[in-house]
Amino acid sequence: MGAMRVGFIGTGKKPEKPGPLGYGMAHQHAAAYKSLGGQVEIVAVADISRENAEAFCGMFGVDPAKVYTDYPKMLKNEKLDLVSICTWPRLHAPMAIACAKAGVKGVYCEKPMADDFGSARKMHETCARLGTRLGFNHQRRYGRPFRQARKLIDEGAIGKLQQVQFTCGDIYDYGTHSIDLSNYLAGEQRAKWVLAQIDYTQAKVIFGMHCENQAVVIWEYENGVMGFGATGPGRPLVNAHNRAVGSEGIVEVGPFEQGEHPTQLRIRRFGQGGWEYLDCGGEHCHGPGYIERAIGDFVACLRDGRPCELESGAAMRATEIIFGAYESSRRRARIELPPKLTDNPLVAMVEAGDLKPAGWTPAPKPKAAKKQARAAKKAKKPAKKKPAKQKAAKKKAGRRK
Ligand SMILES: NC(=O)c1ccc[n+]([C@@H]2O[C@H](COP(=O)([O-])OP(=O)(O)OC[C@H]3O[C@@H](n4cnc5c(N)ncnc54)[C@H](O)[C@@H]3O)[C@@H](O)[C@H]2O)c1
Repeated sequence: MGAMRVGFIGTGKKPEKPGPLGYGMAHQHAAAYKSLGGQVEIVAVADISRENAEAFCGMFGVDPAKVYTDYPKMLKNEKLDLVSICTWPRLHAPMAIACAKAGVKGVYCEKPMADDFGSARKMHETCARLGTRLGFNHQRRYGRPFRQARKLIDEGAIGKLQQVQFTCGDIYDYGTHSIDLSNYLAGEQRAKWVLAQIDYTQAKVIFGMHCENQAVVIWEYENGVMGFGATGPGRPLVNAHNRAVGSEGIVEVGPFEQGEHPTQLRIRRFGQGGWEYLDCGGEHCHGPGYIERAIGDFVACLRDGRPCELESGAAMRATEIIFGAYESSRRRARIELPPKLTDNPLVAMVEAGDLKPAGWTPAPKPKAAKKQARAAKKAKKPAKKKPAKQKAAKKKAGRRK
């Protein structure tokens, strides 16, 4: 079998300082494909910014003649086996669906799945129906601290698993990783219900998406294990990136509470003293090398026709908890999963004016926007020369006399 033909939608720009206005994740995907040697070849890229795309081609040895500013054209012309989608969340679903309709065999998409629950479900279902394997970059699962934590749980080192917990900044943008990791530690279980409350008083927009300031979330898996998450200022409630609580002990993956810690994985066995720190070869919650492993596994699974743990079935289990939590806050009720939703309840609450985060200026409604455009056009027209008109009228009046 020859090299898989890989294309990119969204190349980004290698960031001087990565942040929520641009991480250039495509560069990390490309480095991961490059590490696979001749198994794959990056043959084309699409970005609305030609400048970003050409710089990307220069860095990764892609023919600059294969730059497209219109991704459907690339899908039509290039017969791609695999496409990496590295745009912001609002674009993930339409782009993944377009790839599936163009006959692409695999799509490796950045997280979070989509901007609302209906789009996440649609991309998952359409790709499954058309036979396109859809994976998401929940790469942290490939890190040694998480892998070893799961092994300890499976081996019974903390007895019978009772709870998984997480803490992070928000449940949507970073939380998609944290909830995916909770599901992973709980043995890839599906949650039955979720109950949550959020606070959104200060505007916080990441990759174009509203994210809550603080949340508390609880849920229950089908096997009875409970989940708990605290975001924003409530983080000290968990004080670890992820935690698993069993009948005979606790396993935690860092970062933990403030202070120096020898490694990012520790276990406490009840009745046997304090924390025992376990070696993870210097790996922490962000890496290094996790995206290489994740993409390497996705490519190997595609090639061998094996299921991959990063596929959209797993991502949907995290996405159900995320949007279910926002829905719980909207309805002030426990939400049975999967939620009966198509929208993003947090965005809907902001748009309806039920939440008014300080510092957020709502986009004008379509009618108001049209009115504003007309007013702006009018303002641009040269002002009528009143004095000249007045002069002519005077002259006329004079002649009549
Ligand atoms: N997995 C992780 O740990 C991780 C970390 C950071 C960001 N992310 C995710 O990665 C995604 C991308 O973020 P980023 O920071 O890399 O973005 P970025 O802003 O660096 O790059 C996005 C690129 O998409 C291009 N683009 C926009 N509209 C397009 C269109 N219609 N067609 C083609 N290209 C288009 C832009 O021009 C830009 O070059 C986000 O969903 C973000 O949540 C994931």
